[in-house]
Amino acid sequence: METKAPSESRTIKTEIVCPNDTNPMGMLQGGRLVEWMDIAAAICGQVHTCKICVTVSMNNIIFLKAAKIGDIVTINASITKVFNTSMEIFVEAYAREVSNPKKSLIGRAYFIFVALDENGKSTPVIDVCPTNESEQKLYAGALIRKQMSRNS
Ligand SMILES: CC(C)(COP(=O)(O)OP(=O)(O)OC[C@H]1O[C@@H](n2cnc3c(N)ncnc32)[C@H](O)[C@@H]1OP(=O)(O)O)[C@@H](O)C(=O)NCCC(=O)NCCS
Repeated sequence: METKAPSESRTIKTEIVCPNDTNPMGMLQGGRLVEWMDIAAAICGQVHTCKICVTVSMNNIIFLKAAKIGDIVTINASITKVFNTSMEIFVEAYAREVSNPKKSLIGRAYFIFVALDENGKSTPVIDVCPTNESEQKLYAGALIRKQMSRNS
């Protein structure tokens, strides 16, 4: 059976925090960060499947640290597991100040996307095969996260 490695669709999206992205204290709004994470995950899913993919759930979203106006935000998205028509995509967001190359993890989440055919119906996704220990760990936890997402 044909499979792909997560690295084939790993997506990196970069943004800079502008005034329109922040609250009155100059901190990046959570909703804007989730929007950027969702777009990175959609690109990742679409590169993997070569199909349009839509978000069906966002799970375990956590904001760990605030990013500020002018910070550079980098978002990494990669597929952890394919089910049938759906797949889980793990997204992590990092921020750094322009003057300091040290990046901090500011948020992470697990997204479920579904691939659509040309009629907008859910359609099977090519499988993904973990290739290292961290990918295997994410793969192993994906089913329980999806079950919890479906039951919530
Ligand atoms: C995505 C959509 C087409 C699926 O419709 P469907 O095929 O009738 O739905 P199903 O119940 O058969 O679910 C399809 C897959 O999604 C999964 N799924 C659905 N809801 C889920 C949830 N809350 N959590 C996790 N997985 C979920 C199902 O388990 C199934 O996965 P599988 O095929 O890998 O086993 C439909 O739900 C939809 O259009 N949703 C709106 C999507 C959207 O507009 N997103 C925002 C814009 S991108």
